[in-house]
Formats: sequence, structure tokens, C-alpha cells
Amino acid sequence: MDTTTPPEAAARAAPSAPSDNAIPIEAWNTILFEKFCRFRFVLTQGLSDHSTELLRRRPYPAGTRVLDVGCGFGDTTQQIARQAGPGGTAVGVDCASNFIEAAARETAESGLQGASFFVADVQADDLRGPYDAAFSRFGTMFFNLPGLALRNIRRALRPGGELTMIVWRRREDNPWIHDAELCVREIVPVVSHEESNQVHCGPGPFSMASADMVSDMLRAAGYERISFERYDTDICLGRSLEDAVDFAMALGPAGEIIRLAGEDRQKRRPQVVAALRKRLGTSLRADGVWMGSSSWFVSARNPAH
Ligand SMILES: C[S@@+](CC[C@H](N)C(=O)[O-])C[C@H]1O[C@@H](n2cnc3c(N)ncnc32)[C@H](O)[C@@H]1O
Repeated sequence: MDTTTPPEAAARAAPSAPSDNAIPIEAWNTILFEKFCRFRFVLTQGLSDHSTELLRRRPYPAGTRVLDVGCGFGDTTQQIARQAGPGGTAVGVDCASNFIEAAARETAESGLQGASFFVADVQADDLRGPYDAAFSRFGTMFFNLPGLALRNIRRALRPGGELTMIVWRRREDNPWIHDAELCVREIVPVVSHEESNQVHCGPGPFSMASADMVSDMLRAAGYERISFERYDTDICLGRSLEDAVDFAMALGPAGEIIRLAGEDRQKRRPQVVAALRKRLGTSLRADGVWMGSSSWFVSARNPAH
């Protein structure tokens, strides 16, 4: 299994132009990796509802070679490798070596064949194609130059190969992270990424919510036959109200406002916890706190000629 970090990725240590991904890559490899480990149960269950539905609607035929973009812990890469079978292959790529190490280790432990992983910035690096298809579950919304990244993905596809990506729809239809954001904004002063000296995730989870904007971007990147399918499902934020409040305070836009708040963070913590308990408490059921989420299944084809 190839888990090597290309020298270009290792060399991208110092932040440089705003167009490159040095800052988000550092964030994904440090603060966000730690948070994703801590709340992995929410993410693997909640996010996998979306990918399981997509892979059920459009399974990859046996023998397909698939690139999994921004693969994180690699659970979708594993699922795709199982679908594509012995003749196929699923290759997970992520800019954060910590995610890739975890994905490679867990895949090796499971004994699964046909899945491999490598570290690369999808916007800038060679993606080791050609692939029959590219897939991404919430891994394409964080590039500083998304048009360039989408073009790079297309160049790694064979003629006629298809990109399918799952991206969040508008925040108003994603109360599972937007409600907490509204709540926290009323209490904690918002510090922008420009004002803070903290690393951050890049453009953010809702950067591909507009179907018009994304379809224009895909066309400009050379894709054709672009389509959008909406998918809605409830996500469990925690098995208890306490767990859900912890999650809301750590991840998503609310978690980001709290993280960047500096001194204000501790001072306002009791008020934030009380407000979140009240807000999220309205969605508490016998088996946990469940709230709505909504994504686009976006597909686009690399022209055959
Ligand atoms: C929201 S997480 C999704 C992870 C995984 N697909 C999942 O659904 O659990 C976004 C992923 O995209 C990766 N990512 C962000 N920017 C990237 C880039 N420029 N190149 C490659 N991967 C990137 C992050 O490291 C992270 O693992």
C-alpha cells in the first residue's frame, strides 16, 4: 500500500500566497484532524448516510478505478474498493498525512485489498491517474482555488470518466450545524480568519452550496453533462444533549467562532452552553439529538473526445 508523502507536499510548510493551500493543509493536519478523531462517531455515521445513499443509487461496477478526493479516514475508499471488486481499485487522496496514515493503517488491519492512499494537494499535485471515476464525500469544499482543483481532477480522469461529489446544500437546510452557528453568533463576537493568526479549513463547508455557481465552475473546468440531485437526511449530533453540545462547540461554523474568540471564549462559555442546550434540546429524542442535513450529489463528465 502506497502511503508515501510526495516531497512537494512535505515542502509546503510555510504559508505563502493566499491562492495556495498551505494554511488549510496545516489546519486539516492538526486542529481539524484532532477534532475529527474526537467526534468521529458523528462524522462516520452522519456523513456516511449521504455516501451510502449515493453509492446505493450509483454503485461502481466491478473493475472500476476510482479516485476518492479528500478521503479523510478512508471509509468511503474502503466501501468503493468493495464495490469495485478484485479487478477494480479505490485510491484515497488527502492533503493531511495524519488522515492518510490512519486510513492506510485501518485498511491494512481490515485485510481489505484494492484500496490504497497517498498524500497530495488536489489543487496542485499530480493525482496519479488515469481513473474511470472520481468520487468525493464533502472533500471538495476547502480548496482556495476550486476551479483549478476541479480541472486537476478532470485531467486525472480518462476520457468519458465521471466525477461525483457530495457537497452541502445551503446552510438554512443544514440545521445540524447552522442552528448552533446562529445561537453562538448571538453571544460570541465573530473574529474573522483575516483578523486572527490561527490556521483554518479554507473556504468552508457551504462554499459549493450554490448549484448555479458550481455548475459554472465545472463547465469552466472543462466538464459536461453536469447534474445535481438533492438528498436530505437527519444526522445524530450526539447520543445525549451533553454530547451534542460538545460537538456543536467544537466543529462546524459554531466551533470555529468559538475557537477564534480568544479570551472571550472562556468568559462566555456558560452562556453559550446554556443557549445551545436550549436550542439543541428541542431536537432531543430517545436515542439522541437528531437534526436535518441536506446535500447535493453533483455529477459531471470529462468529455469523451
Ligand atoms: C470534511 S473532510 C471530509 C473527509 C471524508 N471525505 C469524509 O467524508 O469523512 C474534508 C477532507 O478534505 C481534505 N482536503 C482539504 N483540502 C484538501 C486539498 N487541497 N487536497 C486534498 N485533500 C484536501 C481534508 O484533509 C479532509 O480530510
